[in-house]
Amino acid sequence: MLYSLEYFALFVAIISFFSIHIWRINRNSPIPNFPPLGMIPAILFNLSNIHEYITSALKHHGGTFKLRGPLFTNINFFLTSDPMNVHHITSKNFVNYGKGSEFHEIFESLGDGIFNSDSQNWKYQRNLLQSLFKQNIFENFVRKVIHKKLDDYLLPLLNEVSKSRTSVDLQDIFQRFTFDSICSIVLAFDPNCLPNKLSQFREVAVEKAFNKSEVAIFYRHLVPRWLWKLQRWLRIGHEKDTIFGQKILDQFFCDQIPSNREFNYTKDDDDESNFDMIKALVEKSGMKQVDYKFLRDTAVNLVSAGRDTISASLCWFFWLVSTHPNVETKILEEIREKFKTNEENWLISVVKDLDKLIYLHGALCEALRLFPPVPYQHKCAIKSDILPSGDRVDANTMVYYSVYSMGRMEQIWGNDCLEFKPERWISEKGMNIQVPSYKFMAFNAGPRSCLGKNISFIQLKMIAIALLWNFHFQVVEGQSVCPSVSIVLHMKHGLQVRVTKRSN
Ligand code: HEM
Repeated sequence: MLYSLEYFALFVAIISFFSIHIWRINRNSPIPNFPPLGMIPAILFNLSNIHEYITSALKHHGGTFKLRGPLFTNINFFLTSDPMNVHHITSKNFVNYGKGSEFHEIFESLGDGIFNSDSQNWKYQRNLLQSLFKQNIFENFVRKVIHKKLDDYLLPLLNEVSKSRTSVDLQDIFQRFTFDSICSIVLAFDPNCLPNKLSQFREVAVEKAFNKSEVAIFYRHLVPRWLWKLQRWLRIGHEKDTIFGQKILDQFFCDQIPSNREFNYTKDDDDESNFDMIKALVEKSGMKQVDYKFLRDTAVNLVSAGRDTISASLCWFFWLVSTHPNVETKILEEIREKFKTNEENWLISVVKDLDKLIYLHGALCEALRLFPPVPYQHKCAIKSDILPSGDRVDANTMVYYSVYSMGRMEQIWGNDCLEFKPERWISEKGMNIQVPSYKFMAFNAGPRSCLGKNISFIQLKMIAIALLWNFHFQVVEGQSVCPSVSIVLHMKHGLQVRVTKRSN
């Protein structure tokens, strides 16, 4: 009896000790740590609101904290929104921060393409793509593709929508549009996901496969490696979708770049109407024997890079503009003042002069600041290092930077950081203000900054002008507009809008 009482007292003492310990470490923390499970229960509990939750935790911790996962797992990394830390990782001490082997495993669908490469392999691909992207013929080809897709598909479709008076999901429309256009740009093949008639909408498996694999990749960041590998082995949960999606994607890219495809250079290749990116890659790389895996990996990376980023940017931009009528009016005034002629096909003449649209550029940057299509990025320290915030990063430790949170930091953008204000990007002299990329991180910073930034602004501006000039978009009331839980900042429930034709 005496022994039982002693054991009971000991048990109560141990429980009390741990409870007090857990209470002490979590007293002021917005993300409680429950050893041995770490902060993962809190993260999972707040998953539906993860970007805001992480933002408030970063604010609480002064911009940087260590996220602790369950004991004996690989989940233990730094999270930061401190621009000095980000500048250090992406530029100043760039050589010490790579993507790491874990990144390669999580993003295995990208193969050995540029996003998934480090050191010499990355450098080689970066130089190759950079030399291709900076050619005039490439930029002109992009303009041509977007112009044709607008004229033949998007504008006629929205015209029909405006007559039908029904609501449509603008996110679905933008995803189809950008998938068609990026495939046309990279593969010289248009999968025609976006019809020009409402009655012709159909599910496109390859387009849906991209979305599902992005969600699965997000979850791989949050669960221990052994768990998602087990799920993959058992073919359950999100991993089941990835296996299925991967097969569809592999088949799609194999069909477009078959191993028996021949590449002959002809004089017509200098003409932008005949531009073929895959052929240009073979030419530029000087391959003696065509490396089909390399070409497919490059194509997968570029299609992934250009599809969702552009469609997500468009969705948030149109939502913000539609809910801020004063911004919409100013954009239309700017287009009228700088461009409008009575010509039927006036859009063609303005595409070379897009830099004149100072206010529109500000509005797009503002949408990208508040809703960056890639909300998180991460790097892995090669050797141990001290961040400018004073935090010590051990070798092989991941550092995540939340681009979403950075767009909401008073220290960077001022007290009105949550407001949508295109004027923020315009100087007193009426020019666009250049914000250092380590503060405005939507396109990443340093040697690994986005290679598609220029063509992205070209596309976004062309689409914004054509759509806003011709139509007014009214967001359907009562729907919940919030970010999805994915590696790309889509809208969780899409964006239902009603469309009315403008009489300009
Ligand atoms: C609004 C549109 C876009 C946004 C917000 C965006 C954002 C980004 C970000 C954040 C990165 C860094 C990713 C990382 O290191 O893991 C990146 C890299 C890259 N982007 Fe974009 N991107 C956009 C459009 C495009 C387009 C249209 C293309 C070309 C088809 C493109 C091509 C690339 C490439 C090749 C890289 C790899 C750079 C490297 O690792 O050296 N991007 N982009």
